[in-house]
Amino acid sequence: MEQTAEVGFREPEPARRRWLIATATAGGVGCVVTLVPFVEYFEPSARARALGAPVTVDIQALKEREVVTKRSPDMLAQIPKCDALVADPQSRHPYSLPLPKYCRNEFRARASRPGILVVTAVCTHLGCTPLARLRPGPQPGLPDDWPGGFFCPCHGSTYDLAGRVFKDKPAPQNLDVPRFMFSHPDVLIIGKDEQGEA
Ligand code: FES
Repeated sequence: MEQTAEVGFREPEPARRRWLIATATAGGVGCVVTLVPFVEYFEPSARARALGAPVTVDIQALKEREVVTKRSPDMLAQIPKCDALVADPQSRHPYSLPLPKYCRNEFRARASRPGILVVTAVCTHLGCTPLARLRPGPQPGLPDDWPGGFFCPCHGSTYDLAGRVFKDKPAPQNLDVPRFMFSHPDVLIIGKDEQGEA
Protein backbone atom coordinates (compact mmCIF):
# COMPACT_ATOMS: atom_id res chain seq x y z
CA MET A 1 0.00 0.00 0.00
CA GLU A 2 1.36 3.34 -0.93
CA GLN A 3 2.30 5.61 1.93
CA THR A 4 1.96 9.33 2.00
CA ALA A 5 4.33 11.49 3.90
CA GLU A 6 4.79 15.15 4.54
CA VAL A 7 8.27 15.89 3.42
CA GLY A 8 10.22 19.07 3.27
CA PHE A 9 12.72 20.02 0.64
CA ARG A 10 16.17 21.11 1.53
CA GLU A 11 19.02 22.26 -0.61
CA PRO A 12 21.89 19.79 -0.44
CA GLU A 13 25.50 20.76 -0.11
CA PRO A 14 26.97 19.94 -3.54
CA ALA A 15 30.53 19.94 -2.28
CA ARG A 16 29.65 17.15 0.10
CA ARG A 17 28.01 14.93 -2.47
CA ARG A 18 29.47 11.51 -2.50
CA TRP A 19 28.37 8.47 -4.39
CA LEU A 20 27.55 5.35 -2.55
CA ILE A 21 27.90 2.39 -4.82
CA ALA A 22 26.34 -0.90 -4.02
CA THR A 23 26.40 -3.86 -6.32
CA ALA A 24 25.13 -7.37 -6.24
CA THR A 25 26.13 -10.42 -8.14
CA ALA A 26 23.36 -12.40 -9.72
CA GLY A 27 22.70 -15.57 -7.82
CA GLY A 28 21.26 -18.54 -9.61
CA VAL A 29 18.10 -20.22 -8.42
CA GLY A 30 18.84 -21.87 -5.14
CA CYS A 31 22.26 -20.33 -5.03
CA VAL A 32 23.53 -19.63 -1.56
CA VAL A 33 25.27 -16.31 -1.60
CA THR A 34 28.08 -16.04 0.89
CA LEU A 35 29.47 -12.75 -0.22
CA VAL A 36 30.81 -10.46 2.42
CA PRO A 37 29.19 -7.05 2.05
CA PHE A 38 31.50 -4.26 1.12
CA VAL A 39 30.67 -0.71 0.51
CA GLU A 40 32.46 2.02 -1.33
CA TYR A 41 32.00 5.64 -0.49
CA PHE A 42 33.33 7.13 -3.64
CA GLU A 43 34.33 10.73 -3.48
CA PRO A 44 35.09 12.42 -6.81
CA SER A 45 38.15 14.62 -7.00
CA ALA A 46 37.76 18.26 -6.08
CA ARG A 47 38.33 19.20 -9.69
CA ALA A 48 35.70 16.76 -10.94
CA ARG A 49 33.24 18.09 -8.39
CA ALA A 50 34.01 21.68 -9.32
CA LEU A 51 33.41 20.92 -12.97
CA GLY A 52 30.37 18.80 -12.25
CA ALA A 53 31.99 16.09 -14.32
CA PRO A 54 30.60 12.58 -14.50
CA VAL A 55 32.53 10.03 -12.51
CA THR A 56 33.66 6.77 -14.07
CA VAL A 57 34.03 3.77 -11.81
CA ASP A 58 35.50 0.49 -12.89
CA ILE A 59 33.42 -1.96 -10.92
CA GLN A 60 35.78 -4.82 -11.61
CA ALA A 61 38.67 -2.88 -10.14
CA LEU A 62 36.57 -2.02 -7.12
CA LYS A 63 35.87 -5.69 -6.54
CA GLU A 64 39.56 -6.41 -6.54
CA ARG A 65 40.02 -3.79 -3.87
CA GLU A 66 37.08 -5.21 -1.96
CA VAL A 67 35.21 -1.98 -1.84
CA VAL A 68 32.02 -2.95 -3.61
CA THR A 69 28.90 -3.65 -1.64
CA LYS A 70 27.17 -6.80 -2.69
CA ARG A 71 23.44 -7.14 -2.23
CA SER A 72 22.61 -10.80 -2.33
CA PRO A 73 19.30 -12.04 -3.75
CA ASP A 74 18.13 -12.46 -0.17
CA MET A 75 18.87 -8.81 0.48
CA LEU A 76 17.01 -7.76 -2.64
CA ALA A 77 14.05 -9.80 -1.46
CA GLN A 78 13.95 -7.69 1.71
CA ILE A 79 13.28 -4.46 -0.16
CA PRO A 80 9.60 -4.95 -1.06
CA LYS A 81 8.97 -6.07 2.52
CA CYS A 82 9.96 -2.59 3.68
CA ASP A 83 7.38 -0.78 1.55
CA ALA A 84 5.01 -0.27 4.48
CA LEU A 85 7.83 0.84 6.77
CA VAL A 86 9.44 3.54 4.69
CA ALA A 87 8.19 7.11 4.37
CA ASP A 88 8.19 7.37 0.59
CA PRO A 89 8.17 3.90 -0.96
CA GLN A 90 7.75 5.16 -4.52
CA SER A 91 10.35 7.93 -4.14
CA ARG A 92 7.82 10.56 -5.12
CA HIS A 93 9.61 13.30 -3.18
CA PRO A 94 13.26 13.29 -4.18
CA TYR A 95 15.80 15.19 -2.14
CA SER A 96 17.86 17.03 -4.73
CA LEU A 97 17.84 14.85 -7.83
CA PRO A 98 14.84 13.47 -9.73
CA LEU A 99 14.80 9.70 -9.63
CA PRO A 100 15.91 8.52 -13.08
CA LYS A 101 13.08 6.83 -14.97
CA TYR A 102 15.06 3.62 -15.30
CA CYS A 103 15.27 3.41 -11.50
CA ARG A 104 11.55 3.79 -10.87
CA ASN A 105 11.17 0.20 -9.74
CA GLU A 106 11.22 -1.66 -6.46
CA PHE A 107 15.00 -1.89 -6.34
CA ARG A 108 15.67 1.70 -7.45
CA ALA A 109 18.11 0.26 -9.94
CA ARG A 110 18.36 -0.42 -13.63
CA ALA A 111 16.10 -3.33 -14.56
CA SER A 112 18.95 -5.14 -16.28
CA ARG A 113 21.17 -4.84 -13.19
CA PRO A 114 18.78 -4.84 -10.22
CA GLY A 115 21.51 -5.62 -7.75
CA ILE A 116 23.45 -2.47 -8.45
CA LEU A 117 22.39 0.47 -6.37
CA VAL A 118 23.89 3.93 -6.72
CA VAL A 119 22.83 6.55 -4.23
CA THR A 120 24.38 9.69 -2.87
CA ALA A 121 25.85 9.08 0.55
CA VAL A 122 24.36 12.28 1.96
CA CYS A 123 21.75 11.93 4.66
CA THR A 124 18.68 13.95 3.75
CA HIS A 125 18.41 15.31 7.28
CA LEU A 126 21.54 17.42 7.73
CA GLY A 127 23.96 15.88 5.31
CA CYS A 128 25.98 13.39 7.35
CA THR A 129 27.31 10.26 5.69
CA PRO A 130 25.13 7.20 6.26
CA LEU A 131 26.95 4.01 7.14
CA ALA A 132 26.26 0.64 5.56
CA ARG A 133 24.56 -1.72 7.95
CA LEU A 134 23.69 -4.32 5.38
CA ARG A 135 23.48 -7.35 7.63
CA PRO A 136 19.99 -7.97 9.00
CA GLY A 137 19.27 -8.66 12.65
CA PRO A 138 20.11 -7.09 16.01
CA GLN A 139 23.18 -4.89 16.27
CA PRO A 140 24.13 -1.80 18.24
CA GLY A 141 21.90 1.18 17.62
CA LEU A 142 19.43 -0.70 15.44
CA PRO A 143 16.18 -2.54 16.13
CA ASP A 144 16.16 -6.29 16.65
CA ASP A 145 14.19 -6.75 13.44
CA TRP A 146 16.62 -4.68 11.41
CA PRO A 147 16.23 -5.76 7.75
CA GLY A 148 19.57 -4.40 6.56
CA GLY A 149 20.24 -1.01 5.05
CA PHE A 150 22.00 2.20 5.98
CA PHE A 151 22.31 4.06 9.27
CA CYS A 152 23.13 7.70 9.82
CA PRO A 153 25.15 8.03 13.04
CA CYS A 154 24.41 11.73 13.50
CA HIS A 155 20.76 11.58 14.52
CA GLY A 156 19.73 7.99 13.87
CA SER A 157 17.98 8.09 10.52
CA THR A 158 17.80 4.69 8.89
CA TYR A 159 17.38 3.69 5.26
CA ASP A 160 16.50 0.35 3.74
CA LEU A 161 18.56 -1.58 1.23
CA ALA A 162 17.25 0.64 -1.56
CA GLY A 163 18.18 3.83 0.30
CA ARG A 164 14.59 4.64 1.28
CA VAL A 165 14.24 6.36 4.63
CA PHE A 166 12.22 4.63 7.32
CA LYS A 167 9.22 6.43 8.81
CA ASP A 168 9.46 8.69 11.85
CA LYS A 169 13.13 9.49 11.41
CA PRO A 170 14.75 12.90 11.27
CA ALA A 171 15.57 12.50 7.59
CA PRO A 172 12.51 13.36 5.48
CA GLN A 173 13.53 11.94 2.14
CA ASN A 174 15.16 8.97 0.49
CA LEU A 175 18.80 9.01 -0.51
CA ASP A 176 19.18 10.48 -3.96
CA VAL A 177 19.82 8.26 -6.95
CA PRO A 178 21.96 10.06 -9.53
CA ARG A 179 21.95 9.41 -13.24
CA PHE A 180 24.24 6.55 -14.12
CA MET A 181 24.94 4.17 -16.95
CA PHE A 182 27.22 1.33 -17.93
CA SER A 183 29.74 1.88 -20.68
CA HIS A 184 30.86 -1.73 -20.22
CA PRO A 185 29.41 -4.47 -18.01
CA ASP A 186 31.99 -3.60 -15.38
CA VAL A 187 32.28 0.12 -15.93
CA LEU A 188 29.77 2.39 -14.30
CA ILE A 189 29.53 6.06 -15.16
CA ILE A 190 27.91 8.18 -12.50
CA GLY A 191 26.46 11.58 -13.22
CA LYS A 192 25.61 10.80 -16.82
CA ASP A 193 23.27 8.52 -18.72
CA GLU A 194 21.93 8.03 -22.24
CA GLN A 195 20.12 11.36 -21.93
CA GLY A 196 23.24 13.28 -21.02
CA GLU A 197 24.82 14.65 -17.89
CA ALA A 198 22.91 15.45 -14.76
S1 FES B 1 22.21 14.08 9.46
FE1 FES B 1 21.54 12.04 9.27
S2 FES B 1 20.07 11.83 10.80
FE2 FES B 1 20.70 13.89 10.98
